[in-house]
Amino acid sequence: MITKPKMQSRVKPTVLLTALVLSACAPEKDVAMPEAREGAMLFAENCAMCHGTDGRGAASETAVIRNDVTPAADLTVLAQGNDGVFPRQRVLATIDGYNRQTIARDRMPEFGGFLGGDTVPVALTDDALTDEAQLTPVPRRLAALMAYLETLQTP
Ligand code: HEC
Repeated sequence: MITKPKMQSRVKPTVLLTALVLSACAPEKDVAMPEAREGAMLFAENCAMCHGTDGRGAASETAVIRNDVTPAADLTVLAQGNDGVFPRQRVLATIDGYNRQTIARDRMPEFGGFLGGDTVPVALTDDALTDEAQLTPVPRRLAALMAYLETLQTP
């Protein structure tokens, strides 16, 4: 909105406020949870060769199954196997490689290194969908992958 000079004193506060709100929404300061489709691209590039394009792991027709390695996990039943709650912390830790006692590196690589960078606040506890949920800074691309995997869950 262009303000005429004579109106300036009256209009200015509104303009200023609008500018502040707009700057808070500017893309470079985007701290919102990434959308699933951002993670879908990462998944296609880095995970689908083992877990299949549909995430169903060994059951997937597109996964490359080698007899000499452990078949990749079915990523569509993670919530099912956890009382219907998607195990966000476990999934993040698995992808990241952090706390990786269960999967040997030669079965699934650790992605922590290249998935670093900017972080977004993510609720990781089981009360993730409530207002009380604690927010933990998580690398954006890791959070995007997590968001995508959540959409793959079968009820
Ligand atoms: C080289 C093959 C390979 C690639 C690439 C790979 N994974 Fe895996 N992944 C595996 C295997 C194998 C397992 C199961 C290992 C086991 O059970 O010991 C697994 C397990 C997992 C699990 C644990 C499932 C559970 O039950 O907790 C998650 C989550 C996962 N992968 C996500 C991903 C994501 C996301 C990517 C891409 C960023 C990825 N994986 C890339 C092979 C791979």
